[in-house]
Amino acid sequence: MTRREIVPAVAAASLAMAQSANQNRIGLIGNGNRGTVHLSAYLKMPEVKVTALSDLESSRMDSYNAKLGGTAAKYIDWRELIRDSNVDVVAIAVPNHLHPEMAIAALRAGKHVLLEKPIAVNYKLARQIQAEAKKSGKVFAVGMQRRYMARDHHIQQMVDNGVIGKLKAIQITEYRGDWSPKGWHYTDPKTGRTANWRFLKSATGSTELEFSVHAFSQVTQLVKSPLARCTGSGGRLHYADHETRDLTHGLIDFENGVRFNYTFCLFAPGVPGQTVIVGDKAVLRYSSDGPILLDSLAGPAQQPPALTGFEPEQAEVKMYREFLGAIAEKRESALSAELAIEAAKVAYAIDMAIEQNRNVTARDFA
Ligand SMILES: NC(=O)c1ccc[n+]([C@@H]2O[C@H](COP(=O)([O-])OP(=O)(O)OC[C@H]3O[C@@H](n4cnc5c(N)ncnc54)[C@H](O)[C@@H]3O)[C@@H](O)[C@H]2O)c1
Repeated sequence: MTRREIVPAVAAASLAMAQSANQNRIGLIGNGNRGTVHLSAYLKMPEVKVTALSDLESSRMDSYNAKLGGTAAKYIDWRELIRDSNVDVVAIAVPNHLHPEMAIAALRAGKHVLLEKPIAVNYKLARQIQAEAKKSGKVFAVGMQRRYMARDHHIQQMVDNGVIGKLKAIQITEYRGDWSPKGWHYTDPKTGRTANWRFLKSATGSTELEFSVHAFSQVTQLVKSPLARCTGSGGRLHYADHETRDLTHGLIDFENGVRFNYTFCLFAPGVPGQTVIVGDKAVLRYSSDGPILLDSLAGPAQQPPALTGFEPEQAEVKMYREFLGAIAEKRESALSAELAIEAAKVAYAIDMAIEQNRNVTARDFA
């Protein structure tokens, strides 16, 4: 090699070293439906290197690894991924009942953790994860990516900027079809029943926790006040093979007086959901497939102010950038355990209200 050739080769090697020093080494547990979306985000982020994968199904790890150039270590046992010294960040995308054990083990092993929503199947476990995250000094985030979607961001901006005046009430209806039949099958050790994990209460927590927690996160971030009271109604009206509900109504009061009215149906595919956000000066409303409308209480409909300061990009990429930024800056992630718990509390409360046929209050979360 001549001197002319050596100099660029040395420069390229030191650039590669600098890049790898700045790369976040991620181990991803759970290579199913949601893991695929995490993987698609990593593939867009040069600051990320996936060094390890874990799934009970080897073929799933193989197909992920093929997209990564075959460089990630593969572990059937997730505990080995957590012990891997080439992993700094553990991302967890497995069924909900597995979240606490994996998240706590990863934090105790000194890893930063990005845990898929919902934080945990019940409030007690959610608080345990929160306490472990605090004790560990590591960055812990829950994958509530809707915060990084343009529409939710736009609504938050308008409400925070006083476009509707003082927030008074929110009504949300959501409709969809049945859970994907491709979901992982779980055997409940108590009942011996094997089924798609989302059909089983022990694996899912509740339908509201699994699906509606995104809407609840939007609501709690708009309301900015703790849950005060909740009542609910619902059940399994359509799918005989599900333990988890397929129809839910919830009525929630927050401490600051804002009221939230929620309806969910799992057997109405294709029906657009509706959101109505009522203030003392104006109302924001939209259906899941339509534009945002702004009705003034005192005059004609207005054009909503445009969304500002928002670069459109895959929500999960934005979510990971914020999380990795928190690691670099040694600060808490915006998707903190607190934020995830406030959203999950609405789901826990609706579940308790329906299952125990009573009003749930803030005392249930004392
Ligand atoms: N943020 C979102 O919008 C969003 C969307 C969908 C799912 N999720 C969440 O992601 C998580 C996973 O959901 P999904 O749709 O990918 O489910 P899935 O059924 O498609 O995949 C689950 C995967 O976990 C693997 N798994 C199960 N037990 C394991 C273990 N002990 N060790 C390693 N791997 C194991 C399974 O083999 C499977 O590949 C859930 O918590 C769900 O609530 C979030």
